[in-house]
Amino acid sequence: MSRTLKVGVIGVGGIARTHFPGWKESPHSEMIALADTDGKVLQQRGKEEGISLLYEDPCDLLRNPDIDIVDICTPNACHAPLAIAAMQAGKHVICEKPLAPTPAEIRKMIAVRDKTGKLLMTAQHFRFSGRAKALKSVLAQGMLGEVYHARSWMLRRSGAPTRPGFVMKKHSGGGPCIDIGVHILDLTLWMMGNPKPVAVSGVTQNKLAKLPGQFSTWGGPIPKFWDVEEFAAAMVRFANGSTLVLEVSWLLHHKTESEDMQMWLYGVKGGAHWPSNEILSTDYKAKQLLNTQLTLEERGEPHAKECMAFAEAVAQGAPSPVPPEQSLDVITILDGLYRSAASGKEVSLK
Ligand SMILES: NC(=O)c1ccc[n+]([C@@H]2O[C@H](COP(=O)([O-])OP(=O)(O)OC[C@H]3O[C@@H](n4cnc5c(N)ncnc54)[C@H](O)[C@@H]3O)[C@@H](O)[C@H]2O)c1
Repeated sequence: MSRTLKVGVIGVGGIARTHFPGWKESPHSEMIALADTDGKVLQQRGKEEGISLLYEDPCDLLRNPDIDIVDICTPNACHAPLAIAAMQAGKHVICEKPLAPTPAEIRKMIAVRDKTGKLLMTAQHFRFSGRAKALKSVLAQGMLGEVYHARSWMLRRSGAPTRPGFVMKKHSGGGPCIDIGVHILDLTLWMMGNPKPVAVSGVTQNKLAKLPGQFSTWGGPIPKFWDVEEFAAAMVRFANGSTLVLEVSWLLHHKTESEDMQMWLYGVKGGAHWPSNEILSTDYKAKQLLNTQLTLEERGEPHAKECMAFAEAVAQGAPSPVPPEQSLDVITILDGLYRSAASGKEVSLK
C-alpha cells in the first residue's frame, strides 16, 4: 500500500470529535495535527487524542509540508477562506457543511480546486448512513421509475443552537436553512439524482425567537445577537420538470422528541419514505397496493464513514465522494429561497 495520508483538523470544537474515529479507522489515513484559535479547546483535544502537533494559527498547520489532507470543522464563515488556502498549500480538503454559505464562495472554491488539482468534498454525513445508502441503491436501479415530486423536512420544536457561529448571520450565513436545511436538501437532491434546480419560491419566518422568555432546549435563552430566520419553507422546480417541497425549522410548535427529519420521494413506479425505507407500489393487474421494507445491510457511524470515504478517494485517485458542484446546487437553492422570501416572488436560478 502507498504511504499513509497525514491529516490535520482545523477547528476542534464539537463536530470535529465525530471525525476523529474515521481518520483513525481508515487504513489510508493518520491524524497528526490539530488547529484551533481557542488555545484551551486545542490543548484539551490534543490531550484527549494524544496529538502533540497543535497550532493556534491554522496557517501554521497549512504550512506543514507533511500534511496531505485538511479537515475543516470551523464555523461556516471560515470554510471558504481556509479551504482555498489549504488547496493552494497543496492539501486535499474535506469541509464541514455548508461547504460555504454563499454560491459565490463555492464557485471560488471550485475554481481553486480546478487550478490546484486537489480533491474537495463536503462532509454530508447523512449520505453515509446505512439507511440512506440502502435507499439510494434501489433508486439507482430505477425501482421508483421517474421521480417527479419530493417532500422533505427537518423540523425541531425547540432545537436552536444559540452560539454566534449558528445564529449570527455574519458567522453562519443563515439560520436553520444553512444549518440543517443543507442536510435534508442535500440528501433529497442526491436521492432524486441531483436534477438541476431552475426556480424557487420560499418564505422565512422569525416569530417565536422574538417572544419574551423564548429559549431553546438545545442552547438556553435566545441571545440578543440572533439575526437569522427560525423557519423556512420552499417549493423548488427542476429542469427535468420535477419539484420539491421543503420545510426547515429550529423553533416550531411541531410534535417531535428532538427533531423530525423525513423525506418522501414520489415516482411513476413507486414511492419511498426515508428514514423508514418503506417502498410503496401498485400491482395494477392484481389490483393490489404493495408495501416493501428495505433491509439494512450496512451499519457504522456516518461521520466516521465520510472521512474514511474521503481518505480512500484521495488514496485511489477517485472522484470526490460528495462533489462540491452538488453543494453549489444546495446553496444556490437556499440563496434563492432567501431572495424569494425577501421579494415575495419566485426567483429563477438559471
Ligand atoms: N455534520 C453535522 O452533523 C454537523 C453538526 C454540527 C456542526 N456542523 C458544522 O461544523 C462546523 C463547526 O460546528 P461546531 O458545532 O463544531 O462548532 P464549535 O463552535 O463547537 O467548534 C468550532 C471550533 O472552531 C474554532 N475556530 C473558529 N474559527 C477558527 C479559525 N479561523 N481557525 C481555527 N479554528 C477556528 C473554534 O474555536 C471552535 O473550537 C460548522 O460549519 C457546522 O455547520 C456539522
